[in-house]
Amino acid sequence: MSRIPNEVIEQVREANDITDVVGEYVQLKKQGRNYLGLCPFHKENTPSFTVSPDKQIFHCFGCGKGGNAATFLMEMEGFSFVEAIRILAEKSGIDLPEQKQEQGPVLSEESAGILEAFQWTAKLYHHLLRHGKEGKEGYQYLLERGLSEEAIDRFQLGYAPMAEGFTATFLEKKGFHKQALAKFGLITTAGDGAALDRFRGRVIFPIRNHLGKTVAFGGRTITGQDAKYLNSPESELFQKSRILFNFDLAKSHIRKTGEAVLCEGYMDAISAYQAGVKNAVATLGTALTEYQARLLRRYVDTVIICYDADNAGQEATYKAGQLLEAAGCTVKTANLQNGMDPDSHIKEHGAESFVNDVIGNSSTFAGFFMKHLKKGFNLSLEGDRIRYVELVTKRLAMIDRTIEREYYLKEISEEFGISLETLMLEAESLRKNTAPKDKTDGKRHTNGSYEKRRNNLLPAFHNAEKKLIAYMLHDSGIARRAQEELGAQFIIETHQVLVTHLYAYLEDHLDGGASGFIEWLPDEELKRLAAELAMQHQVTEHVSDREIKDYIRTIQLESGDKASIKSLKQEQKLAEQQNDPVRAAQIAMQIIEIQKQLKHTN
Ligand code: CTP
Ligand code: MN
Repeated sequence: MSRIPNEVIEQVREANDITDVVGEYVQLKKQGRNYLGLCPFHKENTPSFTVSPDKQIFHCFGCGKGGNAATFLMEMEGFSFVEAIRILAEKSGIDLPEQKQEQGPVLSEESAGILEAFQWTAKLYHHLLRHGKEGKEGYQYLLERGLSEEAIDRFQLGYAPMAEGFTATFLEKKGFHKQALAKFGLITTAGDGAALDRFRGRVIFPIRNHLGKTVAFGGRTITGQDAKYLNSPESELFQKSRILFNFDLAKSHIRKTGEAVLCEGYMDAISAYQAGVKNAVATLGTALTEYQARLLRRYVDTVIICYDADNAGQEATYKAGQLLEAAGCTVKTANLQNGMDPDSHIKEHGAESFVNDVIGNSSTFAGFFMKHLKKGFNLSLEGDRIRYVELVTKRLAMIDRTIEREYYLKEISEEFGISLETLMLEAESLRKNTAPKDKTDGKRHTNGSYEKRRNNLLPAFHNAEKKLIAYMLHDSGIARRAQEELGAQFIIETHQVLVTHLYAYLEDHLDGGASGFIEWLPDEELKRLAAELAMQHQVTEHVSDREIKDYIRTIQLESGDKASIKSLKQEQKLAEQQNDPVRAAQIAMQIIEIQKQLKHTN
């Protein structure tokens, strides 16, 4: 593989702002000079993931991950460095010199090949549906269901012809192997080993991953026989529990509106899109998973659940809502009439009604919860009534907004003849007992108090080193000065290693910023350390000469003293060997004196 020239990498880096790159995956909120969000690399409910637009780096104070835009994509997508640069170049319209295709470490060679096969097949099926006589039936079917050509094209809907070996022949001609195709469910093999098309006679819904690549198909019958849907099997490329249908297209709308609409079916998400609700996604015939809930939470505060208004859909809403709330989302439920799903509502009442009456008229999850929970109780029995009130109160106690909490408690109070005061007291005590425990609390950094506390416990030289390195990373002038006056004379070993790398880096890079340096670093631990140091929030834009001098002196003193203790100890040993107890005692006192001073300066 030929290397991408450094200037081009530099150019790509400059053309991409890290907040945009990270913003594709994490909802970022401005806080002071930085942005804050929920870390995509570890589970957390309180943001400790920080992005600095000044330094073009990110760092998580919870899990310690850190780096620049390119390393972010590498971590997030499992890309190699070259792939990350390639994606960034594409985003900013920079042409990279042609290179041999290099696959990232995440995909096996087989999966990477099959990924290609999926793209080809999706194109083939879509083409047949739109233009081939083989696909006419499928096309007709979709039109009858009210889909526009634009939507059909947008979602690359297709049709798999009835013929037995059509897809197999097409793909084998392209050089794909039968076994691999069968393993990923693009074809099936008959008992005699002959290749058969898997989705024969079905309308095809390509399922794309978040990067817009088709990784599976959902095939719907158009004759009503067999199972309604036949889906691709799970594979390295496709895990139902981790994918949301249409997430790649909906993502930008989700970010813009701050809301996501969660549907049950492919057709629902597509109809919603056509009705102008473009922030709609769907699960793939399975219950919403914690992974999907957290994925949504990283992008939005609010999720509107728009499942079918039947028993199964309501039960699923109840479960999904709780999962989403646990992940920190505000949950609403869309207002569908009994027996409807988004697709049928739009067909019957039109797009505008869907936007206004269904999505626009969503209710809070608390309201839904109260109604739904009732179904499990026989409220004419006293025991059931009490149990119900207990459960509802527990749930309502979790509502943060006082007005909303009281609103529902009042409803319960009136319905069950319990005084509002009693209910409020109960809710209050429940709130106290279940105050959120955030595991990452101790590491939180939002107001810097944790960091400050920790730093106060560290010896003075330790703080001096940390601050000095932060400024060195920020300003190559300061780095050069430190190099002259201190060299690698840092006390803490990892700091020594880091500054040695920094000096080396600065030899090749005249104006080395933190972002480029971190990426250039050869190992994870060092990257982490560099990002953490660069992100220390007390580091200010303009630092006085005096402050830098103080840091350097503190370090010099400490390392000088350490060095002199060492040599004194050697002298002392020598004196003992030479049978000179007086000299040895004198030296011992000198050592004690220095140690005393050291303690003092710490
Ligand atoms: N599903 C599935 N296999 C089935 C039925 C359903 O995988 N046999 C999944 C599909 O992902 C489907 C979703 O569950 O999109 C919701 O099911 P359903 O509401 O029955 O399907 P719709 O997509 O709404 O399709 P249609 O409107 O054509 O009935
Ligand atoms: Mn449906």
